[in-house]
Amino acid sequence: MCGIVGYTGRHEASPILLAGLRRLEYRGYDSAGLATLDGRRMVVRKKAGRVRALEENVAAEPAKGGCGISHTRWATHGPATDSNAHPHIGGEGPDQVAVVHNGVIENYAALRRGLEAEGIVFRSQTDTEVIAHLIARELGDSSDLFGAVQRVLPKLEGTYGLAVISPRCPGEIVGARLGSPLVVGLGEGEHLLASDPSAIAPHTQRVAFLQDGEVVRLTPEDFQIFHREAGSITPRIDRIDWHPDAAELGNNAHYMIKEIKEQANTVRDACRGRLRKSEGTAHFGGLNLSPRKLRQVKRVIFAACGTSWHAALTGEYLIERLAHLPVEVEYAGEFRYRNAPLDNSTLVFVISQSGETADTLGALREAKRQGHPTLAICNVVGSTIAREADGGIYLHAGPEIGVASTKAFTAQVTVLTMLAVHLGRIRHLSFPDGLKVVEALEAIPEKIEEVFKIEPLIIKAAEKLAEAKSALFMGRDLHFPVALEGALKLKEISYLHAEGYPTAEMKHGPLALIDPETPSIFVAPRGSLHAKTLGNIEEVRARRGPVISIGTEGDQDLMRLSDYFLPIPDMPEVVQPLLAVIPLQLLAYHVARLRGCDIDKPRNLAKSVTVE
Ligand code: G6P
Repeated sequence: MCGIVGYTGRHEASPILLAGLRRLEYRGYDSAGLATLDGRRMVVRKKAGRVRALEENVAAEPAKGGCGISHTRWATHGPATDSNAHPHIGGEGPDQVAVVHNGVIENYAALRRGLEAEGIVFRSQTDTEVIAHLIARELGDSSDLFGAVQRVLPKLEGTYGLAVISPRCPGEIVGARLGSPLVVGLGEGEHLLASDPSAIAPHTQRVAFLQDGEVVRLTPEDFQIFHREAGSITPRIDRIDWHPDAAELGNNAHYMIKEIKEQANTVRDACRGRLRKSEGTAHFGGLNLSPRKLRQVKRVIFAACGTSWHAALTGEYLIERLAHLPVEVEYAGEFRYRNAPLDNSTLVFVISQSGETADTLGALREAKRQGHPTLAICNVVGSTIAREADGGIYLHAGPEIGVASTKAFTAQVTVLTMLAVHLGRIRHLSFPDGLKVVEALEAIPEKIEEVFKIEPLIIKAAEKLAEAKSALFMGRDLHFPVALEGALKLKEISYLHAEGYPTAEMKHGPLALIDPETPSIFVAPRGSLHAKTLGNIEEVRARRGPVISIGTEGDQDLMRLSDYFLPIPDMPEVVQPLLAVIPLQLLAYHVARLRGCDIDKPRNLAKSVTVE
């Protein structure tokens, strides 16, 4: 939530900042702004709306200088207006400071009252502006911006990723992190600072992730990191492991469709080097728990949010089925504040694409505080959750930019299927049964490619669905989480009301909603409970409800009952979710397109939710 980019070096800063903001726009798109230092002159531009509006503004009135900071906002305090856009300014003339901020300052009201009592006039309704005034007051007419920022930080309660500049310190950016991500890019004669590596990747592959409590000072030639308790830090330098083009749109109309179409490859990449046919199992390098320790685990808790929560629920069904191990799936935002009884044999697993979701991070920290072993499934390498968990599994899905998660979901479900086999095989799952799952996973990428061939049928179904006001998504067993995910995709990008239900629950309420205008989408590939699902579809048809179904190709019974039948290849039940979700992603995409929605930037949402 909110994206920050800073640059200091031999090039003009503003084109680099604007290009970086475009890459971070998925983090928020309520307003955008930048401040540059042209020698000792500070130039500030900010606009409500998308980065495009800021670009037009800067094109009309250039913001010169080789050092600058910038921000794209997801509004928390105060609506999306020009004055609430970042950067926020403290001080006057040459003593000014400009601040951009990601996070929430929880004690801002008290700080603001104190500053107003001193006669300081506020120009915005944001929590951030207090930081600018506090730093300006500390800086005074000195040139020690680094020291001024360090003296202000203890006064702030809440979370922040910050970047600060001042005309008193030409060429210098000071950054600070507590709870909101910041990464430093290390170039030749230039340094960058950003909320995530995608804004840095076009310039350098060498990065240093800041840790909570760290403050960084960047100049074109140098960078220093200090921790508020440990003092000077020797940073760990990581390499970005994907090509910058991976975050480009290419010939695609939207990131969402690009990422949907990447899924054969991303599932393949998630499996790469992990499947062991000779042992009928899967292995993971980073679990940091021996088979003996894993065998002692008596219960698994998954904590996650949004789409990752749906992947976790799929994981529950898979692990119970293949490993007979009790699993509970928790909303991370609930788990972190509940008094959930965990015993010594409980393993806490958090799942997060970004590795930065505040509630999921909170759940991880709570479990660690109680002394439980923690593991994480993350996509973003070096993210906070990936670093803080005791061990984990990366998805290797490459950058996911579309706010509605797609390829991360299938990569998560792939990893969870492998995890279920792994846990099963160190318990009682036989070699032939493990091998069947391994072989099915190997075959899945090819089958995913086949699903794309039915896109014309999906578009026809989308034309019907786009006219509806509301829709129900239903599935049994492993397909219940898929139904939930289908409903979430539709509501988040097309603003059409949708609910996901276990099919059997239909009779306990949702059936009352069925009428000729309310489509039901059944996730119903052939499986052990298929006959029961067909019976439920009959019940919907008897009430003249339109039916869209996702089923196994050649399933005449389902076809006969469906107004729109979307066939997927026949595969073993445990891997069916990986195929069944794809028509639902495409359905949501085409409904949103037909309804003229802003697919990659749905209203009110952001990809990386770093506030509670
Ligand atoms: C936001 C995004 C969702 C995502 C959820 C959890 O709500 O819009 O797409 O599923 O956060 O994100 P995470 O990065 O933790 O998986």
